[in-house]
Amino acid sequence: MADSLNCDLKSLSPLQLFERVTEQGEKVRALKAGKAPKDEIDAAVRMLLSLKLSYKTTTGQDYQAGLPPKDLVLINNGTTKEEDEDLVDPWNVQTSNAKGVDYDKLIVRFGSSKIDTDLINRIERATGQKPHHFLRRGIFFSHRDMDQILDAYENKKSFYLYTGRGPSSQAMHVGHLIPFMFTKWLQEVFDVPLVIQLTDDEKYLWKDMTVEKAYEYAKENAKDIIACGFDINKTFIFSDLDYLGTSPGFYKNIVKVQKHVTFNQVKGIFGFTDSDCIGKISFPAIQAAPSFSSSFPQIFNGKENIQCLIPCAIDQDPYFRMTRDVAPRIGQPKPALLHSVFFPALQGAQTKMSASDPNSSIFLTDTPKQIKTKINKHAFSGGRDTIEEHRKYGGNCDVDVSFMYLTFFLEDDDRLEQLKQAYTSGELLTGELKKVLIETMQPLIAAHQERRKQVTDEVVKQFMTPRKLAFEF
Ligand code: TYM
Repeated sequence: MADSLNCDLKSLSPLQLFERVTEQGEKVRALKAGKAPKDEIDAAVRMLLSLKLSYKTTTGQDYQAGLPPKDLVLINNGTTKEEDEDLVDPWNVQTSNAKGVDYDKLIVRFGSSKIDTDLINRIERATGQKPHHFLRRGIFFSHRDMDQILDAYENKKSFYLYTGRGPSSQAMHVGHLIPFMFTKWLQEVFDVPLVIQLTDDEKYLWKDMTVEKAYEYAKENAKDIIACGFDINKTFIFSDLDYLGTSPGFYKNIVKVQKHVTFNQVKGIFGFTDSDCIGKISFPAIQAAPSFSSSFPQIFNGKENIQCLIPCAIDQDPYFRMTRDVAPRIGQPKPALLHSVFFPALQGAQTKMSASDPNSSIFLTDTPKQIKTKINKHAFSGGRDTIEEHRKYGGNCDVDVSFMYLTFFLEDDDRLEQLKQAYTSGELLTGELKKVLIETMQPLIAAHQERRKQVTDEVVKQFMTPRKLAFEF
């Protein structure tokens, strides 16, 4: 009996074990509260201890109620968030710190790894290219299994890139450019296929929007993504509403994931409640499926084991913690990840730039005048109240949104350093720093708009047609 229980427990994932311990704990409490016979309570307690032991053996961690194994920390469930902890999940980013989210703490909480100098040097050696300034400046700061990707790459084994966008509105904001700009660089330096998922189904489920509108936004957003410069021969962009119905390979992976994740697990990971529609509850499997190459037989020639690397901001990590937990149980490699920090809202780094709050955002559709007005009016300043004080004490780059934006978009390292020195010493005033930002953003967005104009419906159609890409598998 004990042997068969142990055997049964060995086949469980850390998260499943965690759930079994939690359920058993609840059972013990219920038995005690119901004044059940002593032998029944004793048997339940013995079972609880045995489950806790298995949990410890499997994860190397003691079971702690409400705190699942490190690779799968609950994040959207109020019960697990300490009072002073930052809130980071696919729908919310909130911190009380004007400097922004404490990313070092997040790495520990999420159980990911820091992108350190060694890893950056290794990427440089493997690609023979100077690392992107997003890597050099810690904007992509965390990863999962990037060393495995590099091991494989150095042994001439290919991988593919997967990223995405939830088309919630016609206009994307500059924060959305971060993962796409970086993905473009990765595609260029590693020369690998890229798949981009447009989760129009997700937006239909979450927002007050028709299916038709969500699909229309997907195609509009595809134009902005294409305007980032992706290679048409190496990139497949797909709308879930479109591609899912045409790809048995994709659908098979979705149901495999669905079979291996319980309602309890998604409640824990995403904070779903009993009154959420079942579309939302099963959606994470749809965002998981592109992590497996068998979802794209036309690209990978039916091969199942090509490893996937996902660049995204860290808000998307819960989807992929779930995916990584499931992958070995459905015979697939775990996807690797590269996480970025958030591009802050204009009002300050306490929250991320978000399309649902227009005042927080600079949109890719904004005119030069709108960009200037928004920055001048809303960009939170780390400067002093008066010119005299500013000259005397200097500005604070750690909380100044204009300076933060420049770290994302001003590529020249020396110029950035000069600005930092000048602002911190008080030589440069807030208005002057804002002017530098305005002069950086206006041409960048104008150039984006110019490239977007060249993206015709025909080009979008080509990118979104399931097809073989310029790679042999
Ligand atoms: P969405 O549309 O919310 O965001 C698209 C991508 O942009 C990142 N992002 C940001 N990055 C930096 N600063 C910000 N302020 C900011 N806001 C958003 C997101 O992390 C994401 O990488 N469900 C997803 C779509 C999706 C996806 C994926 C994303 C499907 N599969 C795979 C990444 C990887 C969504 O709604 O993203």
